[in-house]
Amino acid sequence: MVASSIRLPRALRLGAGAVDTIPELLTEVGSRRPLIVTDTFLVGTGLIDRIVEALTAAGSEPAVFSGVVPDPTTDSLVPGVEAVHAHAADALIGIGGGSPIDTAKALAVLGATGEKMTEFKAPRVYGGPALPVIAVPTTAGSGSEATQFTIITDSVSDEKMLCIGPSFLPTAAVVDYELTLSMPARLTADTGIDALTHAVEAYVSRKANPFSDELALSAIRAISANLRAAYEDGSNRAAREAMMLASARAGMAFSNSSVALVHGMSRPIGAHFHVAHGLSNAMLFPAVTAFSIPGSPKRYADCARAYGIADDRTPDSVAAFALVDALERLCREVAVPTPRDYGIDPTRWEELVPLMARQAIASGSPANNPLVPSVDQIEQLYRKIFD
Ligand SMILES: [Fe+2]
Repeated sequence: MVASSIRLPRALRLGAGAVDTIPELLTEVGSRRPLIVTDTFLVGTGLIDRIVEALTAAGSEPAVFSGVVPDPTTDSLVPGVEAVHAHAADALIGIGGGSPIDTAKALAVLGATGEKMTEFKAPRVYGGPALPVIAVPTTAGSGSEATQFTIITDSVSDEKMLCIGPSFLPTAAVVDYELTLSMPARLTADTGIDALTHAVEAYVSRKANPFSDELALSAIRAISANLRAAYEDGSNRAAREAMMLASARAGMAFSNSSVALVHGMSRPIGAHFHVAHGLSNAMLFPAVTAFSIPGSPKRYADCARAYGIADDRTPDSVAAFALVDALERLCREVAVPTPRDYGIDPTRWEELVPLMARQAIASGSPANNPLVPSVDQIEQLYRKIFD
């Protein structure tokens, strides 16, 4: 038995109104000059003004960097690092979906070290200097508020780099489901499936441990019971709250275990074809699960039981494949397209399959899969899911 190493944010603030506790958290981390890292969409909603006012009233001197792009790149970090230095920021507040939070985590490290992002690419594990980060998710999916990872695309190679280490873990996470009430249905579905993928992959991963297992199974239970309700009626507060908490638990689960083949194959699709992260996961999830089951039928059967589509009397082999059926059903119900239906050119897809397969392997995530695939098998999976 190898001892498990668990890392979590130092503080969590959960529930309606948690966003109002950001000034207290800043005091806890000793910050007076925070830089809010977000995107122009969130500035337009008025949320950022509300937080700036609250911080100013509490005696802080906040500034706002709203230049976050979806799927942040090394180029997109450059003006962010300038903003950190120009404001002499002593903490970062990442507000938004996975992209603003991942950007804030990257800026916290770059602002404190002066190094380049490419130097932090996995397998390096970074635990050195970083500014404190308060992560405030406005979607229920990435789990980034609770993970020791950030994903940044190399602008030169288009590769989505996984960067790992305790210095990428937010100091505090503010998990306030009221911030998700206005999410449109498509985003609710894509981010919710991302969270489900985190939970299942954390549980089946070769790096799973008893602590991550409990978080993962409870997240699977909650997402199964609430994702459709949140998708169909975004104002369903109970479903939104359950999804938000499940997303954070799934984040903690995979941060302390790992993701696996779905994420390994999903990142190159996102990088080359600009498919939203949760959606590219969803395109892969049923087929990759079916492929991976022989590596650990028992683990997938446990996921099926947590999902509520099998019980203790169901044999593992039957339960595991029931999970594939359930994932296919879920993808249909929330209208997940195939890559072809999404509008990706089949010739371009075929051209990029070998490169995507190599990049998937290089990310390290497939090595955590219960069934470790060859490059050929990954190429076959990419071809299989296209239609
Ligand atoms: Fe993800």
